[in-house]
Amino acid sequence: MRFSRPIVIWVLLGLVLFGIFAGGKKEDEVWVSTTENEVILDTDWSFSWRFIGEEIEFTLNIPTTGWAAIGFDPSRMMKDAHYIIGYVSNDGSVFLRDDFGTGDTRHAPDTSIGGTEDVRMVSGTEKDGKTTLVFAIPQDSGDMYDKVLKAGSTYTIILAYGANGADNFTSIHRARKSVEVKL
Ligand code: HEM
Repeated sequence: MRFSRPIVIWVLLGLVLFGIFAGGKKEDEVWVSTTENEVILDTDWSFSWRFIGEEIEFTLNIPTTGWAAIGFDPSRMMKDAHYIIGYVSNDGSVFLRDDFGTGDTRHAPDTSIGGTEDVRMVSGTEKDGKTTLVFAIPQDSGDMYDKVLKAGSTYTIILAYGANGADNFTSIHRARKSVEVKL
């Protein structure tokens, strides 16, 4: 069987385009790659975790000198998620806060709505425009404003970070992302 040259060219072009668009996983212009205990977003934004005893320890690597956060299982947008938000101030002090999604685009400290603060700081550093936060949270804190996090279960994890220098818990994100992750 012989094919005309234009058909062959169109088929080859189709294969090349398929290769480009199907070759990686692209969501909202952010590249996501997942390994057993790490998720990398856009190559320079990542988080990893490990279960230790009754806790789960997270490491957030974020391309900002402002705040960085992770959130678990919103019901819609930012609502009802369990958040840990943190930043490293100019003098190197590390601030962390355990929050809850009180609205579609709002969050508040658990302690301000009758819950408890359940986060243990391990370390926090800021270097070359990047922030690394390491903290541990209970797998089951018993607080109604926290999620129970079990190894092997899948969660909607939302991530966000603030503008450079935004050392606070209140300013809006410069970037935000949602991924499904099996912990
Ligand atoms: C006080 C701090 C924050 C403010 C004022 C804020 C505000 C907003 C606003 C106005 C939107 C809608 C516009 C948009 O899509 O960008 C939004 C969406 C979103 N925010 Fe936030 N946010 C804050 C903190 C956070 C944090 C800490 C996280 C995650 C760790 C987060 C994750 C998201 C996500 C994933 C969306 C998209 C939701 C969707 O479209 O389904 N935000 N936020």
